[in-house]
Amino acid sequence: MAQKVKIDIDGKLIDMPVLEASEGFNVLDVRDLINEGIFTYDPGFLSTASCDSKVTFIDGDKGILLYRGYPIEQLAEKSSHLEVSYLLLHGELPTKTQLETFENSINQHMQIDKQFAKLFDGFNESSHPMAMVCAAIAGLASLYHDDLDISDPEYQMKAAIQLIAKIPTIAAMAYRKSIGKDFIDPDPELTYAENFLHMCFGESGETASVSKTLSRALDKIFILHADHEQNASTSTVRMAGSTECNPFAAIAAGTAALWGPSHGGANEAVLGMLIEISEISRIDEYIKRAKDKEDPFKLMGFGHRVYKNFDPRATVMQSSAHAVLEEQGASNDPLLSVAQSLERIAREQEYFVERKLYPNIDFYSGITLKAMGIPVPMFTVIFTLGRMPGWITHWKEMVSSPFKIARPRQLYLGENSRNYIDINKR
Ligand code: SDX
Repeated sequence: MAQKVKIDIDGKLIDMPVLEASEGFNVLDVRDLINEGIFTYDPGFLSTASCDSKVTFIDGDKGILLYRGYPIEQLAEKSSHLEVSYLLLHGELPTKTQLETFENSINQHMQIDKQFAKLFDGFNESSHPMAMVCAAIAGLASLYHDDLDISDPEYQMKAAIQLIAKIPTIAAMAYRKSIGKDFIDPDPELTYAENFLHMCFGESGETASVSKTLSRALDKIFILHADHEQNASTSTVRMAGSTECNPFAAIAAGTAALWGPSHGGANEAVLGMLIEISEISRIDEYIKRAKDKEDPFKLMGFGHRVYKNFDPRATVMQSSAHAVLEEQGASNDPLLSVAQSLERIAREQEYFVERKLYPNIDFYSGITLKAMGIPVPMFTVIFTLGRMPGWITHWKEMVSSPFKIARPRQLYLGENSRNYIDINKR
């Protein structure tokens, strides 16, 4: 039965159109409400659909995450990041030939030319890698602007390939810069995740030697981060892209948004928190602080705007964390026991239970990345690398059909109109 909604504005009954979803919530179409002289009000967009999309579906109550209809658990187990990137971009899983062609085109575009690489000379070694990555992604717009035509499907796919191909190289360059080492070129013989690890931890002039376990675990982390419907950074990409700007600039805007500790920066903040707590005996003190409204401290890696029972990615991440810790002989990492105790204690506390605050993907991804030897400042860069196909898919979905510039309104609470006062009368 189609949902019906009427609203009464000063006695005038208005039938509000309801648009039906294929999964999840329907939406109230309020686009014409402006003609009734009233706006909707939803800071933070808790109850607002900013667009329609066919890419990813999340059911926050049931802990369901589907990329183009495929459950995240199956993709994490059976697929690869490049196959998931193809799926997100094209809407269907590739045939063997399609996947090989896609992988080859990514491989052919991973190299960053030497002139562009000079961008990194401008950074200090102490610069945060996310600042370098953000600047480098925006800088790519300088290479791909002359043929800019966002309405051309060929240009859209070319931009997608360039971004997915170059983000591992840019990410690795940021890391190498931060440790004062030369850049290492991508090796076309390696898989996507192997290449990233090789470009980070390899030695110039030596053949690559990358752990299959680590590269598989990293590829799974990329898959888990690949997309997440209209999160803050993806919404930023859509907002920026709605002005018809260069897609590389729109993605740079999304990268900046991801950096915040409330969003993609949480994985780095989780490690900072665990290191600060440092031992199980201090957990209660921090739980108390997390509940104290006067204290800005929050349990990083806990809570989610959409997931209200569990984050299915955190479940996959947790099992992957144990496998990596086992392989790295770090199963007795004290930070892991602090994390496990923190999770258990938080789950028992009314404050967290009634607010449905559970560990999200960032809680365990940080521990896994640390066990893999990834430096903490690189954690959000890894998130950026994983999320790249999702961002560019949403940009492509938006520009592939008629769209309007995103231009929200406001509830104005400022001064009423008043006359200018001469300075000597103030
Ligand atoms: C990601 O949107 C996505 O899809 C994001 C993401 C993706 O893949 O793109 O999933 C990735 O960003 C995961 C989230 C990573 N962030 C963190 O782990 C940071 C810690 N979490 C919080 O900052 C918070 O939970 C958010 C930002 C994730 C969600 O914030 P909301 O939905 O705006 O919820 P809220 O801040 O209004 O919190 C509701 C209540 C409040 O208490 P009351 O005012 O009702 O008494 O819960 C409390 C909050 O104070 N609360 C927390 C808490 N998170 C919420 N209290 C302590 N610790 C926390 N972590």
